[in-house]
Amino acid sequence: MNTVITSPPYYWQRDYEVNGQFGLEATIDGFVENLVEAFAAIKPALAQDGTVFLNLGDTYYSAKGKPHGQDNKHRSRRLPGLRAVDGPGLGLPRKSLIGIPWRVALAMQADGWTLRSSIIWVRNSAIPEPTSKDRPWRKYEHIFLFSKHPRYFFNREGLGGEEDVWFIEPDRKSLARGTHYAPYPRSLVERCIETGCPEGGTVLDPFVGGGTTMYVAEEMGRSSVGVELNPSFCGLIADNMTKQTQER
Ligand SMILES: C[S@@+](CC[C@H](N)C(=O)[O-])C[C@H]1O[C@@H](n2cnc3c(N)ncnc32)[C@H](O)[C@@H]1O
Repeated sequence: MNTVITSPPYYWQRDYEVNGQFGLEATIDGFVENLVEAFAAIKPALAQDGTVFLNLGDTYYSAKGKPHGQDNKHRSRRLPGLRAVDGPGLGLPRKSLIGIPWRVALAMQADGWTLRSSIIWVRNSAIPEPTSKDRPWRKYEHIFLFSKHPRYFFNREGLGGEEDVWFIEPDRKSLARGTHYAPYPRSLVERCIETGCPEGGTVLDPFVGGGTTMYVAEEMGRSSVGVELNPSFCGLIADNMTKQTQER
């Protein structure tokens, strides 16, 4: 495995309707620990000169004590019962931005990963947050670049002239859409592959979801391995991969 490119479930954002899913832990530390453990399990399979591109978004601690607003269009956004971020006892002042991405990044660092970059992924056409009247709306997410060792494969030309701020808009149409509600854009994966995966190398996505990482890897002549807990997503990815290869 040459590089890991992934976007795990964010903390209390969606229900992927499968037992054992990450993202619905009772505590912040529980979430952080699950992710750190997952990446520790992956490490032995990663090449000595391998890297990890980890996309993570943040969550607010609302503590408002009642279930999150219903979203009828997106079943996956309806969460069972009271979210840990709506209930009492998370240990933060009410309305706090939790700082999830950095908590995870620092815990990964403490676990031995070399943190090489905190890339800001700017999404100018991000969904507005009109109910948030007392703060700026969110327009960016993090993509942390980790390496297993201090020396590793990195192709700077793949950055396409940008540095640690990437302007990449969400895809309007995605193979991962429809069944799955949090696909990241193909050009985001393209850039990670271009910079982090040598030609003919292998990409791993341990939270592969709708399969974006695998579709892009295949198009770019890289092998890929995807891990997904929800079996219905796996079937869909297999079908899409077959279609994609037949079309060429
Ligand atoms: C944010 S989505 C990934 C979206 C993906 N990047 C795409 O473009 O389609 C996260 C995925 O992780 C899966 N997942 C959650 N917990 C998991 C676990 N413990 N092991 C493997 N997959 C898990 C969810 O079912 C979901 O499909």
